[in-house]
Amino acid sequence: MKQEIKIVVLFIFVCGSAFVFTRGGQMQTNQTAKAQTKTAAEVYKNIQVLKDTPAEQIMPMMDIMSASLGVKCSFCHVQDQWEKDDKEEKKTARQMVTMTLALNKQNFNGRLEVSCATCHNGRPHPATPISLGENLFKRPNNQPSKEPMPTVDQILDKYTIGLGGKDALEKFKPERLKPRKPLIKNSP
Ligand code: HEC
Ligand code: HEC
Repeated sequence: MKQEIKIVVLFIFVCGSAFVFTRGGQMQTNQTAKAQTKTAAEVYKNIQVLKDTPAEQIMPMMDIMSASLGVKCSFCHVQDQWEKDDKEEKKTARQMVTMTLALNKQNFNGRLEVSCATCHNGRPHPATPISLGENLFKRPNNQPSKEPMPTVDQILDKYTIGLGGKDALEKFKPERLKPRKPLIKNSP
């Protein structure tokens, strides 16, 4: 838990500054500090989207990206050849950084609301559907319901009603559909 908080705080710090710097340093008033801070592009060999981010923030960012996706560096990198772009995952990660910055800029007034972890939550591939049963049936404050759980028969009865009722279902006779004539005749 403590670790998580640390990561979140670090991420907010890192992204906040990344944002400031990617805006072309408009908000940077201290000229001396600017001159002293080397950008990632000046220090590393193949930086394309985080060019203006201070170089010292690249490694914390790498740690956060790894933690957000629950992966090791080698998920995106050829080990010890960090500048190489051989892995598709690294290219995707670049697009994701651009997307995440744009999401915050366009929808949250530039505040860091959406991060890699918002969607990825420790997984390389975010879950699209909600996980049934996890939250849907929890009562407020996790109090168990006073009503007894419905029986299997009661659930099936509701399902039958949902399908139109017993009478309607008994009248329903499945028929095999006849194949349709093709609209355009095949030329011989
Ligand atoms: C989710 C993918 C991903 C993971 C995981 C990841 N990186 Fe990166 N890394 C990138 C991307 C993307 C860049 C290039 C950023 C850019 O172009 O602005 C990069 C750039 C770098 C660079 C600069 C290389 C150069 O000279 O251009 C180093 C060094 C680096 N990563 C180290 C690491 C280390 C160490 C880890 C593990 C702690 C790690 N990365 C985990 C995606 C990742
Ligand atoms: C708005 C939600 C969202 C955010 C924010 C987001 N991602 Fe993703 N990411 C996705 C989705 C969805 C996919 C799967 C896309 C697919 O399968 O085509 C994905 C896929 C990826 C992949 C490819 C995974 C694989 O298995 O090949 C990488 C790498 C990745 N994201 C890195 C990142 C990083 C790094 C960040 C933060 C800078 C980030 N993402 C932020 C939604 C997000």
